[in-house]
Amino acid sequence: MPITTCVFDAYGTLFDVAAAARQAAAEGTFPALAETWPQVAAHWRQKQLQYTWLRAVAGRHTDFWQVTQDGLDWALEAMGLADPALRQRLLDLYWELQAYEEVPAMLGALKAGGLNTAILSNGSPRMLAGAVQSAGIGNVLDDVLSVESVGVFKPHDSVYDLVGRRFGCARGEVLFVSSNGWDAAAAAGYGFATVWVNRAGEPQDRLWAAPGQTLRTLHDIPKLAGV
Ligand code: LAC
Repeated sequence: MPITTCVFDAYGTLFDVAAAARQAAAEGTFPALAETWPQVAAHWRQKQLQYTWLRAVAGRHTDFWQVTQDGLDWALEAMGLADPALRQRLLDLYWELQAYEEVPAMLGALKAGGLNTAILSNGSPRMLAGAVQSAGIGNVLDDVLSVESVGVFKPHDSVYDLVGRRFGCARGEVLFVSSNGWDAAAAAGYGFATVWVNRAGEPQDRLWAAPGQTLRTLHDIPKLAGV
């Protein structure tokens, strides 16, 4: 079935989630980050995601901004870096995460090829609007879909349902792209064509389904989508 609609995960896929800690370290205001920022970023991301899964399983939804703060608080305490000024700087930077360098041209090529383009993310609408604006990619996205409209995090099927509801397309017409292996796998199980963007060369998650294809970057997405 030809692809009509390309849908992207946001955090980790279009936006570099390590950028906040990396930039805060580079600013030099918090010397303790100079050596530790990669671990801070990793703990922060890991806890943020764990909290989404736990809240989904327990039926205790809250929005992704709350989960992002909770994950950061755990990470800073674990690293012995609990400092309100550092916390605030990292949270501010999370609203303007850098997009990966290939993102604007890749999305532009999909739009030029006549495909629908969208984000489908755990992020709250306000967080996503901030990230899209600071990356300057609003003009190459048809929509930004947030789990907030269904009140449960990925990988619940009701999240993936948002795509068909918005674009009126069949599951097999959708190319779903995520750097989160579990998200790409669950979307494949749902019936989307999928790409896992595995920048770090991680092992594949052992789940009920597997991503259709694996790439290292987003450069070849237009080619895979047939444009
Ligand atoms: C998102 C998380 C999973 O953007 O990265 O949905």
